Amino acid sequence: MRRGPLLPGQRVQLIDRRGKPSTITLREGGEWHTHKGVLRHEALIGQHEGIVVANEAGERYQVLRPLLNDFVLSMPRGATVVYPKDSAQIVQIADIFPGARVVEAGVGSGALSLSLLRAVGEHGTLHSFERREDFAEIAKANVEAFFGEPHPGWEVFVGDLQDRLPEVQAPGSADRVVLDMLAPWECLDAVSHALAPGGVWVSYVATVTQLSRLTEAIRSSELFTEPASHETMLRTWHLDGLAVRPDHRMVAHTGFLLATRRLADEQTPLQLRRREKQSEVTEEDLQSWLPADDGAWTEETLKARPVTGRKARRAAAHARQIADEARTAHPDAQEVTDDR
Ligand SMILES: C[S@@+](CC[C@H](N)C(=O)[O-])C[C@H]1O[C@@H](n2cnc3c(N)ncnc32)[C@H](O)[C@@H]1O
Repeated sequence: MRRGPLLPGQRVQLIDRRGKPSTITLREGGEWHTHKGVLRHEALIGQHEGIVVANEAGERYQVLRPLLNDFVLSMPRGATVVYPKDSAQIVQIADIFPGARVVEAGVGSGALSLSLLRAVGEHGTLHSFERREDFAEIAKANVEAFFGEPHPGWEVFVGDLQDRLPEVQAPGSADRVVLDMLAPWECLDAVSHALAPGGVWVSYVATVTQLSRLTEAIRSSELFTEPASHETMLRTWHLDGLAVRPDHRMVAHTGFLLATRRLADEQTPLQLRRREKQSEVTEEDLQSWLPADDGAWTEETLKARPVTGRKARRAAAHARQIADEARTAHPDAQEVTDDR
């Protein structure tokens, strides 16, 4: 899937003169129609990536296989995905290693799952939990489309993490836990049960109110080390002769990461000595800053865009189609030798 001549069923990225990428799946006899003309897939099949091809109207395109980052940004989605800049941080901060036993929730569209699966490799395991069955379907198809076959170490469980994790994961058997969901504090008991002593738990949250709620829940549990948080801002640059400067636009906010590690049972966390005067959080503070009612943590109150079942079903069908095409390409891909 990643080397050798381009084959039917494989995804390729066509980049036009303006740098705009379009991703297509190669098919025998296939054609790619745009307002700039028609490009026959035959012009690409059997060629090596990196070529520049012209369509019938003479419009030229640079041809490359999509990288993981490109794939994630062009794949069908239900839920909002974790962007590559954050996935990269998560893999590093959570210290995901080849062979690791990792737990993840929610799966959403499977973007973060792809980075986690790459990092655990063939001998690691990723147990992913998702409460929406339609989202789990989209994620499964996206992961299969990317790898060309189901990943041997990946299992997806439908249901709430807090209910399903104790059923499927032996106590203390997870090396790492990564959560991307609305109310990760609801999973604290399940995570502390599943995570091995010293195991890392990283959460990705979109708002400071979630960050604060989760931090205080972790602290008051006394089961974890002092949590640490950061966000990553990525600024791209314009590179043109002497006009070398930051681009005018940037993605200013995606989310915050919060990382902590499981203490051994019967241990109490070290109270870190802080230089600044420590501010103790009282119940009153929490009440004024956070909603007292736990039911108030909804997609609507956090201004996240809810995804309708119809939209999710359409994305699932599209993802399934790409995965089926990728699976047909995969056996051939293994037989073809790269003769460059
Ligand atoms: C923002 S999306 C995850 C996106 C995903 N990380 C990706 O990169 O594609 C959050 C997901 O968490 C799921 N979810 C929320 N709470 C959950 C829970 N307690 N257990 C399992 N899934 C949950 C939601 O249904 C939603 O699909």
